Amino acid sequence: MKILIFPDAATASAETARRILATLAAQPCAVLGLATGGTMKPVYEALRTALGQSPATFTSFNLDEYVGLPSTHPQSYAYYMKTHLFDAVALPGAQAHLPRGDAPDPAAEATRYEAAIAAAGGIDLQLLGLGANGHIGFNEPTSSLASRTRIKTLTHKTVTDNARYFGPDEVVPRLAITMGIGTILDSRAILLLATGAGKRDAVARMIEGSISAACPATALQLHANVTVLIDEAAAANLKLRDYYETVHPGGADEIYT
Ligand code: PGA
Repeated sequence: MKILIFPDAATASAETARRILATLAAQPCAVLGLATGGTMKPVYEALRTALGQSPATFTSFNLDEYVGLPSTHPQSYAYYMKTHLFDAVALPGAQAHLPRGDAPDPAAEATRYEAAIAAAGGIDLQLLGLGANGHIGFNEPTSSLASRTRIKTLTHKTVTDNARYFGPDEVVPRLAITMGIGTILDSRAILLLATGAGKRDAVARMIEGSISAACPATALQLHANVTVLIDEAAAANLKLRDYYETVHPGGADEIYT
């Protein structure tokens, strides 16, 4: 793992966006794996500014979607992506993939989605956030580290974390379709962005903890091309922080990984 520690969230987000743009410059038709959540909003803002109404040539597969929400629902991840990225960069609909939350048979939809990723040639660059409970995508603790795209029941913690995005009268979904951990590990390269003190425990477990389904993000230790971008607040509990900062001062990319 390459651990890059930045002074603040804005710098970490800007560097994440820069790396995505560098991938697209080198490979305009890259297959991107995309994530949602509050952490990613500044990343997409930077991509919107840089890419403009091009139209976009990449193909994307999002990590997950709530079961039961149509793409028109303001809390659906399809709606999030349309609002924060897809419309602004004129990404053709056929290139923008998310699991269909309102599919009549969600299990069949998960299988279809996994096959669609493979048919596109797999993911070149996967963007990940990190749940405070160590989840990646909606792979909650105890998810199989070999899992593929499927339906997952969200933990109480995730449901309550996400409740702030829903209205007081709205039911927060308890099921999601998510890429599996095995699906994520098949990506050719991974960027994980985590910022803020609320992530410091999960960040420390992910980087320095034992590999365990109890903290799904620890599975990333098995991947050969993972870059973790964090701010100082999220780095606060890392025991080897001095070492990471020696290798990559201020988040700079050095030749030694
Ligand atoms: P957040 O979500 O960016 O809203 O904190 C991250 C995640 O749960 O993956």
